[in-house]
Order: sequence, then C-alpha cells, then structure tokens
Amino acid sequence: MIIKSFKPSDCRESEVTDESAYLSRRRLLGAAAAGGLAAAVPGWARAEDASRYDGVEQGQPPAWFSSKLPSTKWQAATVKGESITPWRDATHYNNFYEFGTDKGDPAQNAGALKTEPWSVVVDGEVGKPGKYALEDFIKPYQLQERIYRLRCVEAWSMVIPWLGFPLSDLLKQVEPTSKARYVRFETLLDPQQMPGQRSSFALIDWPYVEGLRLDEAMHPLAILAVGMYGRELPNQNGAPLRLIVPWKYGFKGVKSIVRISLVEKQPETTWQRIAPGEYGFFANVNPNVDHPRWSQARERRLPSSLFSPNVRQTLMFNGYADEVASLYSGMDLRVNY
Ligand code: MTE
Repeated sequence: MIIKSFKPSDCRESEVTDESAYLSRRRLLGAAAAGGLAAAVPGWARAEDASRYDGVEQGQPPAWFSSKLPSTKWQAATVKGESITPWRDATHYNNFYEFGTDKGDPAQNAGALKTEPWSVVVDGEVGKPGKYALEDFIKPYQLQERIYRLRCVEAWSMVIPWLGFPLSDLLKQVEPTSKARYVRFETLLDPQQMPGQRSSFALIDWPYVEGLRLDEAMHPLAILAVGMYGRELPNQNGAPLRLIVPWKYGFKGVKSIVRISLVEKQPETTWQRIAPGEYGFFANVNPNVDHPRWSQARERRLPSSLFSPNVRQTLMFNGYADEVASLYSGMDLRVNY
C-alpha cells in the first residue's frame, strides 16, 4: 500500500453524518417496513436525511435497490461499545486505486462510473455458470445489515453498517464442482472510466483481483455488499457490488466486482503479486505479525486527528476470532500471513 502521512484535515467531524442520525434512519426504515409503508420509504427517508448525508451525490437509487430495502433484515445491535464511523469519513477516506492513490481521489473521481446496467459473470468450477444482470443476480437474496469493523493493512480502521447478503448463499446456488477450492474475484477493467487504470502508476496489473479459500468464502460472516448506511453503495466504496470479509485486512474487500470464478488453484491476488513479502493471500488481521515496514499491534480508528488520535489495540482476526479461528487451526499464521 502507498502510505501517506495523515493530515488532520482529512476528516472533519463537523461535516459528518453521526451515528445517531444513521440509527434514526434505520429505525425509520424498519418501522415503515413493518407498518406496510415499505414502498414509499426510500424516497421519503432520502429527502428527510439528505442534508445529513452530505458530500456524496448519488441521485436516485437503482430500482432493484429500492425494492429490496424495505425487506432488509436490520441488525439488532451495533458493534459493542464502538461507534459507527461517520458517513463522511467512510465515503471520503478511501482506497480505490482505479480512481487515484490519494485517500480523497475516489470520492472526487468515481462519481461518473456507470454502475447501471451492470453484469456479473460467474464461471469456472460451477454447475451453473452464467452472466447475470445485477438485478437478476441480487433477486434471490434478502438484504441484511452487518455492522462490521474494517481494518486496513495501513493501520487505520472504521466501523461500517453494510447492506448485503452472505456470499455462501450465492455459492450454494451456483453449485461448486468437487474441483472448486478457491474463489477468485475481479474488478471492472475499464480504463476509460477508471483514470487510475490508464495512469503511469503501473504497479498494479489491472484488473484488481482478490481471492478466498472456498471454506473462507462459505463462512457466514463473508458477505457481498450492495449498500451501506441504509443506502446503495457510493461509487467510491465499490458500487454496485463488493466483497466484505471482516476478519481480513481491507484490501481483500475487492470493489466493483464483475467476475466471480470458482477455481482449483489458489489465485494470484493483486497485492500479493506486487509485494509477496508484504501482502499474503490470507491477510487475516493479526496484531502479532507485523508488516515488514510497520507494526500491526494498534490501529487509528477514524475519525482521528492530531489532538485526538483515537488509537486502539488491534484484535486478533479483527475481533472475530471466536467465529473464524477454527478455519486456520494447525496453520502457522506467521508463514500464512
Ligand atoms: N478494490 C479495488 N478494486 N481497488 C482498490 O484499490 N482497495 C482495497 C479494497 N478494495 C481496493 C479495493 C483496500 S486497500 C481497502 S483498505 C478497501 O478497499 C477500502 O475500502 P473503503 O474505501 O470502502 O474503505
């Protein structure tokens, strides 16, 4: 990763959607859905809280998203004792190298990415390969809210309420063959729309690729996200479809996915190819295994400033050890970083 020094001006708390505003929107959506007002809600809620979701022009949500939102299964509790990261930080402090290498570049440059129509190819070792329009791809699944920590390998973190569905639901549906051992994900390749793909910053061999072992991909915590904070995903966060694997470093969360392939061999992933000694295939959050150039023992939770750095201890598997540690029993996590 390209580590730049943090500017206190990167996140200004005065501009953010705070946690209580988000939770009140959530209550509104949940209550209206229960009361049968479902169809009318998205537009209404959008107008009601438009001023709080400042700084991201999203226009109208896609029809498939609006029709799914009312039946969303909202999560009962937030991450214990940890505040949800303000919307402004989550949408203006991004890594999406297709749109530039500065944290503010994706918010500035991704707005014009055309995410409708969008299609996703599912291929490789599956009984039911196909190319699906996104709305058909999403159709079978009920959206669920998942409030997860996001820990970047660069040692900053956030808490984000995602909307998505378990990756395992999709995998079961496409019927992996007995040869399928890994899942490979690919981001859109479109240099015309993605300035980073045509820039001289050529470290990355586009498209951005990530992968999971099949049992990791089947784990109930792994989701495909289509929204966050009760709205569709902003482009800079990986619209219209991205991967979220909360116990791994954020770079596993490949954005703007166009292809999902079931494969026999472990796929070579983007950061592994660039610097195999620094970024491994597993990339599990691990405070005991430092990056060769910095410690992973602690993290800066956004919003953070020079005077209020908001530093906390990093937790094993990003705090999800009870759920996922068994996936790695018997493995040396210093070797399999
Ligand atoms: N996906 C693509 N296609 N391109 C990227 O540059 N960056 C990764 C990941 N997914 C990246 C990507 C990294 S390094 C992180 S930390 C997360 O996205 C950041 O997600 P966020 O911007 O929504 O916080």
